[in-house]
Amino acid sequence: MSLSTVSIHDKTFECFIADEEIQSKIQVLGKKLSDDYKDLKPLFIGILNGSFMFASDLMKNVSVPAEITFIKVASYSGMKSEGKTRELIGLKENIEGRHVVVVEDIVDTGITMEGIVSQLHSAKAKSVAVASLLVKPDCLQREVTVKYTGFEIPEKFVVGYGLDYDGLGRNLKDIYQLKHD
Ligand code: IMP
Repeated sequence: MSLSTVSIHDKTFECFIADEEIQSKIQVLGKKLSDDYKDLKPLFIGILNGSFMFASDLMKNVSVPAEITFIKVASYSGMKSEGKTRELIGLKENIEGRHVVVVEDIVDTGITMEGIVSQLHSAKAKSVAVASLLVKPDCLQREVTVKYTGFEIPEKFVVGYGLDYDGLGRNLKDIYQLKHD
């Protein structure tokens, strides 16, 4: 059963997308990916930390041969993200000639995803597609194509199902939205 509200640090969040709705959307995405990548042996690349739950449930719904790995994107210290290429940490696989699907929890400004996609192209992936559980279209500042979108959501902070607020909330089964009184 979903909790109607949760308190994390100093803020209150209300239930926004329930577990059942998330799971049924992921079944649809998994089916679509299985159709599109039949015989292509795609490499799924989950972006840590936020995508761990989505990547796990998504893979259970991919019915064709596929590999998965996880990477982190280096965070920049002290300075603005604008114009900076953030290093991809932990990518051991040779992705040259591979069909890659980047698995992300949320695309907000798109700055992170733009950097990831361009680095995967530089590493000579044969194709790069993005699967993101959540997209905030009103916040996009970059041209990022998210071919496999779970939910388009408004410009409000969300937690749960992998997403955190200052380190907490990732373990919640449902997705919660910041409550304004
Ligand atoms: P972008 O580069 O602005 O698209 O940021 C993407 C990253 O910001 C995501 O991978 C999340 O870690 C974080 N983020 C953006 N919006 C939210 C949110 O509403 N809740 C939690 N994390 C978020």
